[in-house]
Amino acid sequence: MSDLIEGYLGKTVEGKKSRTPAKLDYLQSATGLFLGLFMWGHMLFVSTILISKDFMYSVTKFFEGSFIFNEGQPIIVSGIALVVFIIFIAHAAMGMRKLPANFKQYQVMKAHANNMGHEDTKLWFIQAFTGFAMFFLGSVHLYIIMTQADAIGPYASADRVWSNWMWPLYILLLLAVEFHGTIGLYRLAVKWGWFDGKDPKASRKKLKAYKKILTVFFLVLGFATLAAYMKIGMDHAAAGKVGERYTPTAQIMEYKINNGRVA
Ligand code: HEM
Repeated sequence: MSDLIEGYLGKTVEGKKSRTPAKLDYLQSATGLFLGLFMWGHMLFVSTILISKDFMYSVTKFFEGSFIFNEGQPIIVSGIALVVFIIFIAHAAMGMRKLPANFKQYQVMKAHANNMGHEDTKLWFIQAFTGFAMFFLGSVHLYIIMTQADAIGPYASADRVWSNWMWPLYILLLLAVEFHGTIGLYRLAVKWGWFDGKDPKASRKKLKAYKKILTVFFLVLGFATLAAYMKIGMDHAAAGKVGERYTPTAQIMEYKINNGRVA
């Protein structure tokens, strides 16, 4: 009954407003924090291809639990991707509450942002746009990684990027995720006052500078990484080897030694 009264009047029987919106805001922040930090780790792991194919291969095997199982189990990566996907969907659902529901609402927000001339309010539009784009782009990537976790590695990933045409999607996803992620983490820090210190205005200025540096850093790293996968994928396709998996240098040397030849 009290739900019915609150549903119609927007207040409980005791005249109090629901705490649910505040709880949902908290959930949005928590899932956003997780995803933002996860993406920093993700970009660093994926970019190991810039160091060497062997390094990227060993990182992949590490996430497959090779320190416990001999060959590694891709199902572990599928499990991690499923958990990330659920958090991603929960975060998107929370974010949807902040999007304008019709043109009138959009117009009011735009006029408000322009009138205030406040940079942080304008950042909201970037968040809404990149967030909307990620609904689609992020879901495609997560679903593929979740269902094809056995096809992650120096050659398998490069084949997916180049021969399976993922690179156009990755260009867009990379742009969306890097802007959305760093702006999101900046807004979280400002919203909850994590680094306010004695002079919140001065710390906000500093946070803004860090935000810019991090965005540029991860964009440069991301595009260099993507270019590396594209180049490896192109060479692999030109050699007619699409689908062939990478054999780490250590295994090739072992094979040659066992066959009486020293590498
Ligand atoms: C557990 C979850 C995830 C795993 C295991 C994973 C794994 C990978 C791997 C292996 C690549 C290299 C290319 C390939 O193999 O296709 C990649 C690229 C990429 N991923 Fe993820 N990913 C995950 C979640 C996400 C999420 C949540 C996002 C953003 C919404 C994302 C955005 C990207 C982008 C933008 C690239 C291209 C990066 C570049 O080449 O610089 N990933 N991911």
